[in-house]
Amino acid sequence: EQIEKNGYDHFMLKEIYEQPNVIKDTYRGRLHTDTGMIKMAGVEDNLQKFLNANRILIVACGTSWHAGLVAEYIFEEFARIPVEVEYASEFRYRNPIINKDDVVIAISQSGETADTLAAIKMAKENGAFVFGVCNVVGSSISRETHAGAYTHAGPEIGVASTKAFTTQITVLTLIALRLANAKGTLTKSDYFRYLQEMELIPQKVEEALQTNDVAQKVAAAYKDASNCLYLGRGYNFPVALEGALKLKEISYIHAEGYPAAEMKHGPIALIDEQMPVVVVAPKQEHYDKIVSNIQEIKSRSGKIIAVVTKGDTQVKDLADHVIEIPEVSDALSPLVTTIPLQLLSYHIAVMRGCNVDQPRNLAKSVTVE
Ligand code: G6P
Repeated sequence: EQIEKNGYDHFMLKEIYEQPNVIKDTYRGRLHTDTGMIKMAGVEDNLQKFLNANRILIVACGTSWHAGLVAEYIFEEFARIPVEVEYASEFRYRNPIINKDDVVIAISQSGETADTLAAIKMAKENGAFVFGVCNVVGSSISRETHAGAYTHAGPEIGVASTKAFTTQITVLTLIALRLANAKGTLTKSDYFRYLQEMELIPQKVEEALQTNDVAQKVAAAYKDASNCLYLGRGYNFPVALEGALKLKEISYIHAEGYPAAEMKHGPIALIDEQMPVVVVAPKQEHYDKIVSNIQEIKSRSGKIIAVVTKGDTQVKDLADHVIEIPEVSDALSPLVTTIPLQLLSYHIAVMRGCNVDQPRNLAKSVTVE
Protein backbone atom coordinates (compact mmCIF):
# COMPACT_ATOMS: atom_id res chain seq x y z
CA GLU A 1 0.00 0.00 0.00
CA GLN A 2 2.89 2.36 0.79
CA ILE A 3 4.18 1.82 -2.74
CA GLU A 4 0.78 2.56 -4.19
CA LYS A 5 0.65 5.80 -2.23
CA ASN A 6 3.77 6.86 -4.04
CA GLY A 7 5.30 8.68 -1.08
CA TYR A 8 2.10 10.47 -0.04
CA ASP A 9 0.63 9.95 3.43
CA HIS A 10 -2.81 9.23 2.04
CA PHE A 11 -4.43 8.19 -1.22
CA MET A 12 -6.55 11.32 -1.08
CA LEU A 13 -3.50 13.58 -1.12
CA LYS A 14 -1.91 11.56 -3.91
CA GLU A 15 -5.11 11.84 -5.93
CA ILE A 16 -5.37 15.58 -5.32
CA TYR A 17 -1.84 15.97 -6.68
CA GLU A 18 -2.57 13.77 -9.70
CA GLN A 19 -5.11 16.24 -11.03
CA PRO A 20 -2.90 18.19 -13.45
CA ASN A 21 -1.96 14.92 -15.14
CA VAL A 22 -5.33 13.22 -15.16
CA ILE A 23 -7.11 16.31 -16.47
CA LYS A 24 -4.59 16.26 -19.31
CA ASP A 25 -5.17 12.52 -19.81
CA THR A 26 -8.89 13.22 -20.01
CA TYR A 27 -8.70 15.77 -22.81
CA ARG A 28 -5.70 14.26 -24.61
CA GLY A 29 -6.63 12.90 -28.03
CA ARG A 30 -10.03 14.58 -27.76
CA LEU A 31 -9.16 18.25 -27.81
CA HIS A 32 -7.45 19.45 -30.98
CA THR A 33 -6.66 23.09 -30.58
CA ASP A 34 -4.87 23.30 -33.95
CA THR A 35 -7.92 22.29 -35.98
CA GLY A 36 -10.52 23.45 -33.48
CA MET A 37 -11.98 19.95 -33.30
CA ILE A 38 -13.23 18.03 -30.31
CA LYS A 39 -13.40 14.33 -31.00
CA MET A 40 -15.24 11.98 -28.69
CA ALA A 41 -16.63 8.90 -30.42
CA GLY A 42 -19.64 8.59 -28.11
CA VAL A 43 -20.66 12.16 -28.83
CA GLU A 44 -19.84 12.14 -32.54
CA ASP A 45 -21.82 8.95 -33.19
CA ASN A 46 -24.85 10.48 -31.51
CA LEU A 47 -24.41 14.12 -32.39
CA GLN A 48 -27.91 14.51 -33.83
CA LYS A 49 -29.46 13.21 -30.63
CA PHE A 50 -27.60 15.85 -28.64
CA LEU A 51 -28.44 18.57 -31.14
CA ASN A 52 -32.11 17.65 -31.27
CA ALA A 53 -32.42 17.44 -27.49
CA ASN A 54 -35.03 19.69 -25.99
CA ARG A 55 -33.20 19.41 -22.73
CA ILE A 56 -30.47 17.50 -21.00
CA LEU A 57 -31.26 15.69 -17.79
CA ILE A 58 -28.28 14.91 -15.59
CA VAL A 59 -28.61 12.16 -12.98
CA ALA A 60 -25.94 11.42 -10.38
CA CYS A 61 -25.20 11.15 -6.65
CA GLY A 62 -22.73 12.76 -4.25
CA THR A 63 -19.73 14.47 -5.76
CA SER A 64 -20.78 13.38 -9.25
CA TRP A 65 -24.02 15.31 -8.72
CA HIS A 66 -21.93 18.41 -7.97
CA ALA A 67 -20.05 17.89 -11.25
CA GLY A 68 -23.49 17.77 -12.87
CA LEU A 69 -24.39 21.13 -11.36
CA VAL A 70 -21.22 22.68 -12.77
CA ALA A 71 -22.13 21.13 -16.13
CA GLU A 72 -25.58 22.71 -15.97
CA TYR A 73 -24.00 26.17 -15.98
CA ILE A 74 -21.55 25.22 -18.72
CA PHE A 75 -24.06 23.53 -21.07
CA GLU A 76 -26.55 26.34 -20.77
CA GLU A 77 -23.92 29.01 -21.33
CA PHE A 78 -21.99 27.32 -24.14
CA ALA A 79 -24.62 25.28 -25.97
CA ARG A 80 -27.85 27.02 -24.88
CA ILE A 81 -29.54 23.71 -24.07
CA PRO A 82 -31.72 23.69 -20.95
CA VAL A 83 -30.34 21.37 -18.30
CA GLU A 84 -31.88 19.82 -15.21
CA VAL A 85 -29.74 18.12 -12.61
CA GLU A 86 -31.34 15.45 -10.48
CA TYR A 87 -30.31 13.32 -7.55
CA ALA A 88 -30.67 9.84 -9.04
CA SER A 89 -32.35 8.65 -5.82
CA GLU A 90 -35.10 11.27 -6.11
CA PHE A 91 -35.49 10.98 -9.85
CA ARG A 92 -36.11 7.24 -9.81
CA TYR A 93 -38.93 7.43 -7.29
CA ARG A 94 -40.85 10.48 -8.33
CA ASN A 95 -42.51 9.57 -11.60
CA PRO A 96 -40.42 12.07 -13.55
CA ILE A 97 -41.36 13.36 -16.98
CA ILE A 98 -38.96 11.80 -19.47
CA ASN A 99 -39.41 12.43 -23.18
CA LYS A 100 -37.99 10.66 -26.19
CA ASP A 101 -36.10 13.78 -27.18
CA ASP A 102 -34.43 14.14 -23.79
CA VAL A 103 -30.78 13.33 -23.49
CA VAL A 104 -29.98 11.87 -20.10
CA ILE A 105 -26.39 12.10 -18.88
CA ALA A 106 -25.50 9.80 -15.99
CA ILE A 107 -22.33 10.73 -14.13
CA SER A 108 -20.61 8.19 -11.91
CA GLN A 109 -17.03 7.62 -10.87
CA SER A 110 -17.51 3.96 -9.98
CA GLY A 111 -20.19 3.24 -12.55
CA GLU A 112 -21.86 1.07 -9.93
CA THR A 113 -24.05 3.41 -7.86
CA ALA A 114 -27.40 1.64 -7.42
CA ASP A 115 -29.60 4.74 -7.57
CA THR A 116 -27.88 6.06 -10.70
CA LEU A 117 -28.17 2.68 -12.36
CA ALA A 118 -31.89 2.54 -11.56
CA ALA A 119 -32.40 6.07 -12.92
CA ILE A 120 -30.70 5.02 -16.16
CA LYS A 121 -32.95 1.99 -16.57
CA MET A 122 -36.00 4.15 -16.03
CA ALA A 123 -34.84 6.73 -18.58
CA LYS A 124 -34.20 4.00 -21.12
CA GLU A 125 -37.63 2.47 -20.56
CA ASN A 126 -39.09 5.87 -21.35
CA GLY A 127 -37.23 6.08 -24.62
CA ALA A 128 -34.55 8.62 -23.71
CA PHE A 129 -31.03 8.44 -25.07
CA VAL A 130 -28.71 7.82 -22.11
CA PHE A 131 -25.07 8.86 -22.12
CA GLY A 132 -22.65 7.80 -19.37
CA VAL A 133 -19.71 9.67 -17.91
CA CYS A 134 -17.86 7.03 -15.88
CA ASN A 135 -14.37 6.51 -14.60
CA VAL A 136 -14.31 2.75 -14.19
CA VAL A 137 -14.00 1.06 -17.55
CA GLY A 138 -16.49 -1.75 -18.13
CA SER A 139 -18.55 -0.77 -15.08
CA SER A 140 -22.30 -1.48 -14.92
CA ILE A 141 -23.25 2.09 -15.83
CA SER A 142 -20.85 2.16 -18.76
CA ARG A 143 -22.51 -1.02 -20.04
CA GLU A 144 -26.10 0.05 -19.37
CA THR A 145 -25.85 3.41 -21.16
CA HIS A 146 -26.32 3.81 -24.94
CA ALA A 147 -23.01 5.62 -25.30
CA GLY A 148 -20.54 7.44 -23.14
CA ALA A 149 -17.19 9.03 -22.51
CA TYR A 150 -14.77 7.87 -19.88
CA THR A 151 -12.92 10.12 -17.52
CA HIS A 152 -9.29 9.07 -17.45
CA ALA A 153 -8.69 9.72 -13.77
CA GLY A 154 -7.19 6.29 -13.07
CA PRO A 155 -8.21 4.35 -9.96
CA GLU A 156 -9.58 6.57 -7.20
CA ILE A 157 -9.01 4.90 -3.83
CA GLY A 158 -9.78 7.69 -1.34
CA VAL A 159 -13.46 7.56 -0.45
CA ALA A 160 -13.71 11.33 -0.78
CA SER A 161 -13.75 11.97 -4.50
CA THR A 162 -11.24 14.51 -5.86
CA LYS A 163 -9.72 13.72 -9.25
CA ALA A 164 -12.90 12.05 -10.44
CA PHE A 165 -14.72 15.36 -9.90
CA THR A 166 -12.32 17.49 -11.92
CA THR A 167 -12.07 14.97 -14.75
CA GLN A 168 -15.87 14.69 -14.88
CA ILE A 169 -16.04 18.46 -15.29
CA THR A 170 -13.36 18.21 -17.99
CA VAL A 171 -15.35 15.66 -20.03
CA LEU A 172 -18.60 17.58 -19.63
CA THR A 173 -16.91 20.82 -20.70
CA LEU A 174 -15.59 19.12 -23.83
CA ILE A 175 -19.07 17.87 -24.69
CA ALA A 176 -20.55 21.33 -24.15
CA LEU A 177 -17.87 22.86 -26.37
CA ARG A 178 -18.48 20.26 -29.09
CA LEU A 179 -22.20 21.06 -29.08
CA ALA A 180 -21.52 24.79 -29.01
CA ASN A 181 -19.36 24.43 -32.09
CA ALA A 182 -22.06 22.46 -33.91
CA LYS A 183 -24.81 24.88 -32.91
CA GLY A 184 -22.82 28.07 -33.32
CA THR A 185 -23.82 29.24 -29.86
CA LEU A 186 -20.33 30.50 -29.02
CA THR A 187 -18.51 32.99 -31.18
CA LYS A 188 -15.54 31.48 -33.04
CA SER A 189 -13.16 33.52 -30.96
CA ASP A 190 -14.72 32.50 -27.64
CA TYR A 191 -14.76 28.88 -28.77
CA PHE A 192 -11.06 28.90 -29.63
CA ARG A 193 -10.25 30.81 -26.47
CA TYR A 194 -11.86 28.05 -24.38
CA LEU A 195 -10.03 25.32 -26.29
CA GLN A 196 -6.74 27.05 -25.67
CA GLU A 197 -7.54 27.75 -22.06
CA MET A 198 -8.46 24.12 -21.50
CA GLU A 199 -4.88 23.22 -22.39
CA LEU A 200 -3.64 25.67 -19.76
CA ILE A 201 -5.78 24.14 -17.00
CA PRO A 202 -3.22 21.50 -15.90
CA GLN A 203 -0.69 24.31 -15.34
CA LYS A 204 -3.26 26.38 -13.44
CA VAL A 205 -4.19 23.39 -11.29
CA GLU A 206 -0.47 22.91 -10.64
CA GLU A 207 -0.29 26.51 -9.43
CA ALA A 208 -3.40 26.02 -7.31
CA LEU A 209 -1.67 23.05 -5.66
CA GLN A 210 0.98 25.45 -4.46
CA THR A 211 -1.58 26.82 -2.03
CA ASN A 212 -0.95 23.69 0.04
CA ASP A 213 1.08 25.50 2.71
CA VAL A 214 -1.49 28.26 3.09
CA ALA A 215 -4.29 25.68 3.22
CA GLN A 216 -2.39 23.90 5.98
CA LYS A 217 -2.07 27.12 8.01
CA VAL A 218 -5.75 27.91 7.59
CA ALA A 219 -6.54 24.33 8.58
CA ALA A 220 -4.56 24.71 11.79
CA ALA A 221 -6.59 27.79 12.69
CA TYR A 222 -10.01 26.17 12.15
CA LYS A 223 -9.48 22.48 12.85
CA ASP A 224 -11.55 22.71 16.05
CA ALA A 225 -14.53 24.43 14.47
CA SER A 226 -17.82 22.63 14.86
CA ASN A 227 -19.51 24.29 11.88
CA CYS A 228 -18.38 25.79 8.63
CA LEU A 229 -20.19 27.62 5.86
CA TYR A 230 -19.13 27.55 2.18
CA LEU A 231 -20.37 30.21 -0.21
CA GLY A 232 -19.98 30.76 -3.93
CA ARG A 233 -21.85 32.30 -6.84
CA GLY A 234 -22.46 31.16 -10.41
CA TYR A 235 -20.05 28.48 -11.57
CA ASN A 236 -18.57 28.48 -8.09
CA PHE A 237 -21.80 27.76 -6.25
CA PRO A 238 -21.44 24.00 -6.92
CA VAL A 239 -17.79 24.34 -5.89
CA ALA A 240 -18.97 25.64 -2.51
CA LEU A 241 -21.30 22.63 -2.19
CA GLU A 242 -18.45 20.29 -3.04
CA GLY A 243 -16.07 22.04 -0.60
CA ALA A 244 -18.60 21.60 2.20
CA LEU A 245 -19.18 17.96 1.29
CA LYS A 246 -15.43 17.25 1.35
CA LEU A 247 -15.09 18.79 4.81
CA LYS A 248 -17.98 16.90 6.37
CA GLU A 249 -17.06 13.61 4.74
CA ILE A 250 -13.55 13.39 6.10
CA SER A 251 -13.34 15.70 9.13
CA TYR A 252 -16.88 15.24 10.52
CA ILE A 253 -17.25 19.00 10.90
CA HIS A 254 -20.73 20.09 10.02
CA ALA A 255 -20.49 22.12 6.84
CA GLU A 256 -23.03 23.65 4.51
CA GLY A 257 -22.62 25.01 1.03
CA TYR A 258 -24.85 27.84 -0.15
CA PRO A 259 -25.18 30.24 -3.04
CA ALA A 260 -23.66 33.40 -1.54
CA ALA A 261 -26.75 35.50 -2.16
CA GLU A 262 -29.02 32.99 -0.43
CA MET A 263 -27.11 33.55 2.78
CA LYS A 264 -29.51 36.30 3.75
CA HIS A 265 -32.42 33.85 3.69
CA GLY A 266 -31.12 31.73 6.53
CA PRO A 267 -27.45 30.96 7.08
CA ILE A 268 -26.67 34.56 8.02
CA ALA A 269 -28.42 33.86 11.33
CA LEU A 270 -25.65 31.38 12.14
CA ILE A 271 -22.80 33.81 11.65
CA ASP A 272 -20.87 34.89 14.74
CA GLU A 273 -17.18 35.07 15.67
CA GLN A 274 -17.09 31.25 15.97
CA MET A 275 -18.17 30.65 12.39
CA PRO A 276 -15.60 30.11 9.66
CA VAL A 277 -17.01 31.04 6.26
CA VAL A 278 -15.17 29.84 3.18
CA VAL A 279 -16.01 32.12 0.26
CA VAL A 280 -15.09 31.14 -3.27
CA ALA A 281 -14.50 34.60 -4.69
CA PRO A 282 -12.27 34.63 -7.75
CA LYS A 283 -12.44 37.59 -10.12
CA GLN A 284 -15.59 36.65 -12.00
CA GLU A 285 -18.84 38.08 -13.17
CA HIS A 286 -20.70 39.68 -10.27
CA TYR A 287 -17.48 39.93 -8.26
CA ASP A 288 -18.83 43.10 -6.63
CA LYS A 289 -21.83 41.10 -5.40
CA ILE A 290 -19.64 38.60 -3.63
CA VAL A 291 -17.60 41.42 -2.14
CA SER A 292 -20.77 42.77 -0.57
CA ASN A 293 -21.66 39.28 0.69
CA ILE A 294 -18.24 39.19 2.35
CA GLN A 295 -18.90 42.59 3.94
CA GLU A 296 -22.11 41.20 5.40
CA ILE A 297 -20.19 38.32 6.97
CA LYS A 298 -17.53 40.64 8.31
CA SER A 299 -20.01 42.97 9.93
CA ARG A 300 -21.31 39.96 11.87
CA SER A 301 -17.78 39.00 12.95
CA GLY A 302 -17.66 35.76 10.93
CA LYS A 303 -14.18 34.46 10.09
CA ILE A 304 -13.59 34.78 6.37
CA ILE A 305 -11.42 32.40 4.38
CA ALA A 306 -11.52 33.54 0.77
CA VAL A 307 -10.33 31.85 -2.40
CA VAL A 308 -9.32 34.77 -4.60
CA THR A 309 -7.56 35.48 -7.87
CA LYS A 310 -3.87 36.30 -7.53
CA GLY A 311 -3.46 40.05 -7.19
CA ASP A 312 -6.88 40.61 -5.64
CA THR A 313 -6.96 43.49 -3.17
CA GLN A 314 -10.62 44.14 -2.40
CA VAL A 315 -11.44 40.79 -0.82
CA LYS A 316 -7.97 40.60 0.70
CA ASP A 317 -8.73 43.73 2.73
CA LEU A 318 -11.84 42.13 4.20
CA ALA A 319 -10.86 38.49 4.67
CA ASP A 320 -9.06 36.89 7.60
CA HIS A 321 -7.25 34.55 5.24
CA VAL A 322 -6.90 34.47 1.48
CA ILE A 323 -5.90 31.57 -0.71
CA GLU A 324 -4.72 32.78 -4.11
CA ILE A 325 -5.35 30.93 -7.32
CA PRO A 326 -4.29 31.88 -10.86
CA GLU A 327 -6.56 33.82 -13.18
CA VAL A 328 -9.02 31.63 -15.06
CA SER A 329 -12.19 32.32 -17.02
CA ASP A 330 -15.48 31.96 -15.13
CA ALA A 331 -16.63 28.82 -16.93
CA LEU A 332 -13.41 26.90 -16.34
CA SER A 333 -12.80 28.25 -12.84
CA PRO A 334 -14.33 25.31 -10.91
CA LEU A 335 -11.41 23.15 -12.08
CA VAL A 336 -9.06 25.49 -10.24
CA THR A 337 -11.06 26.90 -7.31
CA THR A 338 -11.92 23.43 -6.08
CA ILE A 339 -8.24 22.52 -5.49
CA PRO A 340 -7.59 24.63 -2.34
CA LEU A 341 -10.89 23.43 -0.87
CA GLN A 342 -9.78 19.82 -1.28
CA LEU A 343 -6.46 20.65 0.40
CA LEU A 344 -8.17 22.52 3.22
CA SER A 345 -10.49 19.65 4.12
CA TYR A 346 -7.62 17.17 3.80
CA HIS A 347 -5.42 19.03 6.28
CA ILE A 348 -8.24 19.63 8.75
CA ALA A 349 -9.09 15.92 8.71
CA VAL A 350 -5.44 14.94 9.22
CA MET A 351 -5.08 17.39 12.12
CA ARG A 352 -8.21 16.01 13.74
CA GLY A 353 -6.78 12.51 13.50
CA CYS A 354 -9.50 11.28 11.16
CA ASN A 355 -9.20 8.33 8.84
CA VAL A 356 -8.90 10.40 5.67
CA ASP A 357 -9.03 7.62 3.10
CA GLN A 358 -11.76 5.63 4.79
CA PRO A 359 -14.07 7.92 6.71
CA ARG A 360 -16.54 6.32 9.07
CA ASN A 361 -19.89 5.20 7.69
CA LEU A 362 -19.00 5.99 4.07
CA ALA A 363 -18.36 3.67 1.15
CA LYS A 364 -16.48 4.37 -2.04
CA SER A 365 -19.27 3.01 -4.10
CA VAL A 366 -22.84 2.58 -2.92
CA THR A 367 -24.18 -0.46 -4.72
CA VAL A 368 -27.21 -0.91 -2.50
CA GLU A 369 -30.00 1.50 -1.64
C1 G6P B 1 -20.33 7.61 -2.59
C2 G6P B 1 -18.89 8.10 -2.58
C3 G6P B 1 -18.81 9.51 -3.16
C4 G6P B 1 -19.41 9.54 -4.55
C5 G6P B 1 -20.83 8.98 -4.56
C6 G6P B 1 -21.32 8.74 -5.98
O1 G6P B 1 -21.08 8.37 -1.69
O2 G6P B 1 -18.39 8.09 -1.25
O3 G6P B 1 -17.46 9.92 -3.22
O4 G6P B 1 -19.42 10.84 -5.03
O5 G6P B 1 -20.88 7.71 -3.91
O6 G6P B 1 -20.51 7.75 -6.55
P1 G6P B 1 -20.27 7.53 -8.07
O7 G6P B 1 -19.31 6.36 -8.14
O8 G6P B 1 -21.60 7.20 -8.69
O9 G6P B 1 -19.70 8.77 -8.63
